[in-house]
Amino acid sequence: MKEKINVTDYANLITKALPKGILLNTSADKFNSMVIGWGHIGTLWGRPTFHVYVRQGRFTKGQLDKAGEFSISIPLENPDPTINKICGWETGFNIDRVKEAGLELEESEIIKTPGVKQYPLTIECKVLYSQDQDLSKIPVDIKEKTYPQDVPGTYPMANRDFHTMYVGEIVDAYIIK
Ligand SMILES: Cc1cc2nc3c(=O)[nH]c(=O)nc-3n(C[C@H](O)[C@H](O)[C@H](O)COP(=O)(O)O)c2cc1C
Repeated sequence: MKEKINVTDYANLITKALPKGILLNTSADKFNSMVIGWGHIGTLWGRPTFHVYVRQGRFTKGQLDKAGEFSISIPLENPDPTINKICGWETGFNIDRVKEAGLELEESEIIKTPGVKQYPLTIECKVLYSQDQDLSKIPVDIKEKTYPQDVPGTYPMANRDFHTMYVGEIVDAYIIK
Protein backbone atom coordinates (compact mmCIF):
# COMPACT_ATOMS: atom_id res chain seq x y z
CA MET A 1 0.00 0.00 0.00
CA LYS A 2 1.13 3.55 -0.74
CA GLU A 3 0.21 6.72 1.15
CA LYS A 4 0.33 9.69 -1.23
CA ILE A 5 2.17 12.75 0.13
CA ASN A 6 2.84 16.35 -0.70
CA VAL A 7 6.60 16.02 -1.06
CA THR A 8 7.31 19.57 0.12
CA ASP A 9 5.94 18.57 3.54
CA TYR A 10 9.00 16.28 3.74
CA ALA A 11 11.63 18.80 2.59
CA ASN A 12 13.21 18.97 6.04
CA LEU A 13 13.42 15.19 6.39
CA ILE A 14 14.87 14.82 2.88
CA THR A 15 17.47 17.54 3.44
CA LYS A 16 18.59 15.91 6.69
CA ALA A 17 18.64 12.40 5.17
CA LEU A 18 20.75 13.34 2.12
CA PRO A 19 24.22 13.63 3.73
CA LYS A 20 23.74 10.20 5.33
CA GLY A 21 22.81 8.64 1.98
CA ILE A 22 19.55 8.09 0.13
CA LEU A 23 18.99 5.94 -2.99
CA LEU A 24 18.89 6.98 -6.64
CA ASN A 25 17.25 4.06 -8.48
CA THR A 26 17.52 3.49 -12.23
CA SER A 27 16.31 0.78 -14.53
CA ALA A 28 17.67 0.38 -18.06
CA ASP A 29 20.09 -2.53 -18.57
CA LYS A 30 18.95 -3.75 -15.13
CA PHE A 31 17.58 -2.30 -11.89
CA ASN A 32 20.30 -0.52 -9.87
CA SER A 33 20.30 1.60 -6.70
CA MET A 34 23.16 4.00 -6.00
CA VAL A 35 23.69 5.95 -2.77
CA ILE A 36 23.68 9.72 -3.23
CA GLY A 37 24.50 12.42 -0.73
CA TRP A 38 24.03 15.43 -2.97
CA GLY A 39 20.66 16.58 -4.26
CA HIS A 40 17.67 18.74 -3.48
CA ILE A 41 14.00 19.21 -4.10
CA GLY A 42 12.86 22.45 -5.67
CA THR A 43 11.01 24.16 -8.47
CA LEU A 44 12.23 24.74 -12.02
CA TRP A 45 10.23 26.26 -14.85
CA GLY A 46 7.24 26.15 -12.56
CA ARG A 47 7.47 22.38 -12.11
CA PRO A 48 8.23 20.38 -8.94
CA THR A 49 11.72 18.93 -9.29
CA PHE A 50 14.36 16.73 -7.67
CA HIS A 51 17.98 17.41 -8.64
CA VAL A 52 20.75 14.80 -8.46
CA TYR A 53 24.50 14.92 -9.29
CA VAL A 54 26.15 11.87 -10.87
CA ARG A 55 29.83 11.41 -11.76
CA GLN A 56 30.68 10.39 -15.34
CA GLY A 57 32.05 6.93 -14.49
CA ARG A 58 29.09 5.67 -12.45
CA PHE A 59 27.02 2.79 -13.82
CA THR A 60 24.04 4.97 -12.92
CA LYS A 61 25.06 7.63 -15.49
CA GLY A 62 24.49 5.30 -18.47
CA GLN A 63 21.26 4.04 -16.96
CA LEU A 64 19.90 7.58 -16.52
CA ASP A 65 20.83 8.55 -20.08
CA LYS A 66 19.09 5.47 -21.46
CA ALA A 67 15.95 5.44 -19.29
CA GLY A 68 15.27 9.17 -18.88
CA GLU A 69 13.69 8.57 -15.48
CA PHE A 70 14.60 7.62 -11.92
CA SER A 71 13.10 7.02 -8.53
CA ILE A 72 14.40 8.27 -5.20
CA SER A 73 14.09 6.18 -2.03
CA ILE A 74 14.58 7.81 1.36
CA PRO A 75 14.68 6.17 4.81
CA LEU A 76 12.31 7.66 7.39
CA GLU A 77 14.95 7.08 10.08
CA ASN A 78 18.62 6.11 9.77
CA PRO A 79 20.00 4.47 6.62
CA ASP A 80 20.69 0.72 6.62
CA PRO A 81 24.48 0.14 6.92
CA THR A 82 24.40 -2.86 4.55
CA ILE A 83 22.47 -0.95 1.88
CA ASN A 84 24.81 2.02 2.29
CA LYS A 85 27.90 -0.19 1.88
CA ILE A 86 26.70 -2.27 -1.08
CA CYS A 87 25.00 0.62 -2.92
CA GLY A 88 27.63 3.23 -2.02
CA TRP A 89 30.94 1.41 -2.35
CA GLU A 90 30.36 -1.33 -4.94
CA THR A 91 29.27 -0.65 -8.51
CA GLY A 92 26.39 -1.88 -10.62
CA PHE A 93 28.97 -2.63 -13.35
CA ASN A 94 30.11 -5.59 -11.20
CA ILE A 95 27.27 -6.68 -8.95
CA ASP A 96 23.53 -7.20 -8.74
CA ARG A 97 22.56 -4.80 -5.98
CA VAL A 98 19.08 -6.30 -5.48
CA LYS A 99 20.67 -9.65 -4.62
CA GLU A 100 23.73 -8.40 -2.72
CA ALA A 101 21.95 -5.76 -0.60
CA GLY A 102 18.65 -7.69 -0.29
CA LEU A 103 16.65 -4.84 -1.80
CA GLU A 104 12.88 -5.39 -1.87
CA LEU A 105 11.33 -3.62 -4.85
CA GLU A 106 7.96 -1.89 -5.06
CA GLU A 107 6.40 -1.24 -8.46
CA SER A 108 6.05 2.45 -9.28
CA GLU A 109 2.79 4.21 -10.16
CA ILE A 110 3.82 6.34 -13.16
CA ILE A 111 7.36 5.40 -14.22
CA LYS A 112 8.90 1.98 -14.93
CA THR A 113 11.68 2.20 -12.31
CA PRO A 114 10.59 0.62 -9.01
CA GLY A 115 11.22 1.98 -5.51
CA VAL A 116 12.85 0.21 -2.56
CA LYS A 117 10.62 -0.90 0.32
CA GLN A 118 13.33 -0.56 2.99
CA TYR A 119 13.56 3.20 2.23
CA PRO A 120 9.81 3.93 2.03
CA LEU A 121 9.62 7.64 1.13
CA THR A 122 9.52 7.39 -2.66
CA ILE A 123 9.70 10.08 -5.33
CA GLU A 124 9.12 9.20 -8.99
CA CYS A 125 10.86 11.48 -11.52
CA LYS A 126 11.13 11.92 -15.28
CA VAL A 127 14.35 13.61 -16.45
CA LEU A 128 13.44 17.15 -17.50
CA TYR A 129 16.94 18.53 -18.04
CA SER A 130 20.58 17.59 -17.56
CA GLN A 131 23.75 19.64 -17.53
CA ASP A 132 27.45 18.72 -17.26
CA GLN A 133 29.38 20.64 -14.64
CA ASP A 134 31.86 23.23 -15.85
CA LEU A 135 34.96 22.54 -13.72
CA SER A 136 36.36 25.99 -14.55
CA LYS A 137 33.54 27.59 -12.55
CA ILE A 138 34.06 25.52 -9.38
CA PRO A 139 36.03 27.20 -6.55
CA VAL A 140 39.67 25.97 -6.55
CA ASP A 141 39.62 24.48 -3.02
CA ILE A 142 36.47 22.47 -3.79
CA LYS A 143 37.86 21.37 -7.15
CA GLU A 144 41.09 20.06 -5.62
CA LYS A 145 39.26 18.16 -2.87
CA THR A 146 36.29 16.88 -4.86
CA TYR A 147 37.89 16.25 -8.27
CA PRO A 148 41.44 14.93 -7.56
CA GLN A 149 42.89 14.44 -11.04
CA ASP A 150 45.20 11.58 -9.92
CA VAL A 151 42.25 9.37 -8.82
CA PRO A 152 40.66 7.28 -11.62
CA GLY A 153 36.95 7.56 -12.35
CA THR A 154 36.40 3.96 -11.26
CA TYR A 155 36.99 4.89 -7.58
CA PRO A 156 33.61 4.93 -5.75
CA MET A 157 34.23 8.20 -3.86
CA ALA A 158 35.91 11.48 -4.92
CA ASN A 159 37.76 11.08 -8.20
CA ARG A 160 38.73 13.01 -11.33
CA ASP A 161 35.28 12.82 -12.96
CA PHE A 162 32.97 15.82 -12.95
CA HIS A 163 29.25 15.45 -12.22
CA THR A 164 26.24 15.77 -14.47
CA MET A 165 23.24 17.39 -12.83
CA TYR A 166 19.97 15.65 -13.68
CA VAL A 167 16.78 17.54 -12.95
CA GLY A 168 13.86 15.17 -12.54
CA GLU A 169 10.31 16.41 -12.74
CA ILE A 170 8.47 14.89 -9.78
CA VAL A 171 5.51 12.93 -11.15
CA ASP A 172 4.49 11.10 -7.97
CA ALA A 173 5.45 10.87 -4.29
CA TYR A 174 4.31 8.53 -1.52
CA ILE A 175 5.33 6.44 1.45
CA ILE A 176 5.33 2.67 0.96
CA LYS A 177 3.48 1.09 3.91
C1 LIG B 1 27.04 8.72 1.58
C2 LIG B 1 27.41 8.62 0.11
C3 LIG B 1 27.01 9.62 -0.78
C4 LIG B 1 27.32 9.56 -2.15
N1 LIG B 1 26.88 10.56 -3.00
C5 LIG B 1 27.13 10.48 -4.34
C6 LIG B 1 26.59 11.48 -5.23
O1 LIG B 1 25.84 12.39 -4.84
N2 LIG B 1 26.93 11.38 -6.55
C7 LIG B 1 27.75 10.37 -7.04
O2 LIG B 1 28.02 10.34 -8.25
N3 LIG B 1 28.24 9.40 -6.21
C8 LIG B 1 27.93 9.42 -4.88
N4 LIG B 1 28.39 8.43 -4.03
C9 LIG B 1 29.19 7.33 -4.58
C10 LIG B 1 28.34 6.23 -5.26
O3 LIG B 1 27.27 5.82 -4.44
C11 LIG B 1 29.24 4.99 -5.54
O4 LIG B 1 30.35 5.33 -6.32
C12 LIG B 1 28.46 3.86 -6.19
O5 LIG B 1 29.23 2.69 -6.09
C13 LIG B 1 28.13 4.11 -7.66
O6 LIG B 1 27.30 3.07 -8.11
P1 LIG B 1 27.07 2.76 -9.65
O7 LIG B 1 28.46 2.65 -10.30
O8 LIG B 1 26.35 1.44 -9.65
O9 LIG B 1 26.27 3.86 -10.23
C14 LIG B 1 28.07 8.47 -2.66
C15 LIG B 1 28.46 7.43 -1.78
C16 LIG B 1 28.12 7.50 -0.42
C17 LIG B 1 28.54 6.36 0.50
